[in-house]
Parts: sequence; structure tokens; C-alpha cells
Amino acid sequence: MPAKHSMQESPENRQIPADAQGSGSDSGACGDLQMSPDIMLDLANRTAELIIERITKLPDENAWDGEFKKELEDRLMEDPPEHGSPALEVLERAAKEILPMGARLDHPRSFAFIPSAPTWPGILADFMVSAYHVNQCTWLTASGASQMELVVTDWFRRWLGYPDTAGGLIASGGSAASLEALVAARESAGAPEGGTVYMSDQSHSALVRAARIMGVRPDRVRMIESDALFRLDVETLIRTVAQDRAAGFNPVAVCANAGTSSTGAIDPLEPMADFCEAEGIWFHVDAAYGGFTIITEQGKRLLRGIERADSIGLDAHKLFFQPYEAGCLLVKDLSTLERAFAVRHDVLQDTVWGANHPNFADRGLQLSRSVRALKIWVSVKTFGLAPFRNAISRSMELAARAEVHVRNNETLEMLIPASLGIVCFRVNPDHAALDEESLEKINRKVLARVFWEDRALVSSTMLRGKFSLRLCIVNHTTDWDDVRETLEAIERFGNEALSD
Ligand SMILES: Cc1ncc(COP(=O)(O)O)c(C=O)c1O
Repeated sequence: MPAKHSMQESPENRQIPADAQGSGSDSGACGDLQMSPDIMLDLANRTAELIIERITKLPDENAWDGEFKKELEDRLMEDPPEHGSPALEVLERAAKEILPMGARLDHPRSFAFIPSAPTWPGILADFMVSAYHVNQCTWLTASGASQMELVVTDWFRRWLGYPDTAGGLIASGGSAASLEALVAARESAGAPEGGTVYMSDQSHSALVRAARIMGVRPDRVRMIESDALFRLDVETLIRTVAQDRAAGFNPVAVCANAGTSSTGAIDPLEPMADFCEAEGIWFHVDAAYGGFTIITEQGKRLLRGIERADSIGLDAHKLFFQPYEAGCLLVKDLSTLERAFAVRHDVLQDTVWGANHPNFADRGLQLSRSVRALKIWVSVKTFGLAPFRNAISRSMELAARAEVHVRNNETLEMLIPASLGIVCFRVNPDHAALDEESLEKINRKVLARVFWEDRALVSSTMLRGKFSLRLCIVNHTTDWDDVRETLEAIERFGNEALSD
């Protein structure tokens, strides 16, 4: 289609005086919110310098550097100014006083919760997306971006082994994907009264929240107990569903984990798929944590059966190294998603171009949408898949090596085999014969010392009442020395706590 308008206006006509220096200008010569191309370029270069300086220095800094509320309130709580200040000053403040305050999730020693380090092309793609100001709600408003999102979701579809009928959308994250999946499940089941949802007691709070938002009462979310390796127990699932059916409830969805956030446990996907197929219940797999391991040989083996799910949630801002926000929901039959979310709206009638021109707003929660898929597309096109595959494999290898280190260490105890880059262990020398209460006290002390005194950021979890230290090794910038020195610091603090 030919361009309808050509820009005749010369850049000079739109410039504001150079002496405005990117600050709010009172000149009134043109829109007060505009900047000249020279100033824009200078500011972009200076901002890029600030960012690259941060990235370069990051390994020598601490993985956490937050502040207490009072201190930040004193520094930041101020009225909005009526007149501006030079943009560079403002951006430098953001770079020094705001953004670094907290966890540096892309630090090579960031092992807490679920960290991640984004690729530079992905970061630049997000910058471009803001600058091009595309609203990817409909084909009309964003045909290029929509086609690109089709390409990216189709890559994911093929990696997961889904059929041609599958499709989905890029979402803010695993939480949005969970909600959209459960809504699709409920609509597909005909929105029955007395709906119940099933998941393991290790499932992410995002799924519980999704069920709550959807109106499934907490006592109808069945948290099925997990086995010794924290995988959902299928026999208990079968029994619970049978009891619910007998009591008149309507099972709407069964959710499996492809990598719990606590231990990296993978639920028995094939037996769960068999059961859901036989019972005609929607089968959702929350693969927000572990889904992208599917591009490695090991991941393919571990996630066998995922392709049988009715829906799969993914998070490219975890093990696919993208800037936040980069979640994804894929459903096996795309029509189930569109039936759940498409709503006619007169004011958008011009955007209906027919089935071959999807409006992504018809597939999920959002109307206004940023172009979140671009960072994935740009990163993969820039690097190719091989470095992603290597980085994911390396994460799993580092975790396996950490496990060997812990098992060979007299002070430390592994609590469960490492899985998908997650290592759960604690300070517990055999000879000490400590009870659970003392162990928790000692390990909490160790965790606090790592937090305040060491460069690394480590977090904890509870494993059937046992307090566990936990390393989540998913940054592509992490090497063995980062892991080893963190384990050595834990051992040292542990021995000191034991002799207190
Ligand atoms: C297994 C799992 N599911 C869902 C979520 C929620 O994802 P998000 O934080 O992207 O909304 C997470 C986040 O850590 C997760 O690990």
C-alpha cells in the first residue's frame, strides 16, 4: 500500500533553540514537548554511555544495593516541577539514584528468585519500540509488528512441537499468560457453574492469583500434593477430580509446572496429559520458568509431553534473556483463545480486516499493546539460536557442577537434585546433628550475611518445612567462579555460624 503522506516539513522548522539543552523551553516557537534532532541524538548517546558504563562495571559491584524507604523518600519525594531541568541531569539522576536501587538481576552473581540478563539487541529493540510508538492492538495500527509477532510465536510453536492450529500472543509475563490460559479454559468448558482448577502445591502464586481473578473461589483451587521431588502426584489428582465430579463440581483446568520456581521441578507431563485427554479437561502447562530449555536436547527430553497441553505459558524474560516484559501464551487451538477474548466494539469496526489479519487485542487482556515480540525477534536474528542454546545448557551445567560441589562439601547438604538451573541446599554438617529449628536459624544467619556482606544475591525457599538456600543460575553472564566463590562464602559463613 503506498504511503498516504510524505513529510515535507524540514527538520529545521521543528527545532527548538539549542540553548534549551533538552529542558522545558518557554520559547513557544514550537511544541514545548519537542526536542531538536541534535539534542535528541546527543541525549540518546549520553544515555547509552550511562547504560554501557553500568553494564561494564556491574561485575565489580554488589548484586544488590537497595535502600530503606525513609532514605529514598527523603531523596525522591518532591512536587512535580512547573519548569524543567536539563534532560541529561534528569536522566543521570535516574541512572544513579533510582534504577540501581535494588537487585541487579543481570549481575553475574544474581542468584536470588529468578534473575535474568537481557541481550543488548533486545534492549535496543525495546528502545526502538518506544520511539516508534506503535500500538499493536490491531493489524491496521501495526501490520508489520503484528506479522513479526506471528513469526515469533510461530518459532515458539515449532520449538514446543505444537501443530499448525496453535497460536497465541506475547504477554507481559507468566502472570498474564496464566490468567489468559485459565480464561480460555473456562470459556472452552462453557463457563460452567462450580468450576474447579487443579495444580500442584508447588505451583506459582501467579496461577492461584489467575484463578482468583477469574472468580474461582480459593476453596475451589485444588492444590494437589507433590511427591518427594516436588512433582505433582497424579494419583492424588485423579482421586481429587473423581471426588469433585461426584460432588457436582466442574473441573475446568489442570495446570502442570514445567519448572517450578522453587526447585525447578517438572510435573509428570505425559501422565497428566493422558488423564486430561481422557477426562476432557483443559491441560495448561506453566512453562514460564523452564519452557525455553526446549531448544536444548536436555530440555526436549525433560519436557516431553508439553506439546499435548491445551495451553502453554512462557517467559522470555527468564531463560531466554530478554528485557522485561516478555511473556507468551500459546494455545493448541487458536480459535479457543479468540473465542475467549474477542469482543466487538463499534469504535474499532474499521480495524476488522478479516481472519488472515489478526488483531492481537482479540487474543488477550490488552487493547493498547507495546511491541514486546520485537526484542525476541531482534535478539534471535542478531545472534542466531546457537548462543541461546549454549547459554541455557551452560546454566544447567553450572547448576549440576554446584550440586557436585555441595555434595563433596562437609558443611553443606543438598536437599533435592538440581533441576533446570536451580540448586537447593543448606548448611548442615553431618557431624553437627542439629534439629530443624537450629538449622533454620543458622541458615537464615548465613543468608543475611551473604546479603549484607557478599557481592552475591542469594534467596531461600521452604521445602516441606525445611529452610533451604537456593541458587537460581540463569544469567548468561555467570561463570563457574561466580558460583564457586558464592558457595565458598556460604560455607565460610556457615562454619562461623556453627561455631557461634
Ligand atoms: C513458574 C512461574 N510461573 C509464573 C510466573 C509469573 O511470571 P511473571 O513474573 O512473568 O508474571 C513465574 C515468575 O517467576 C514463574 O516462575
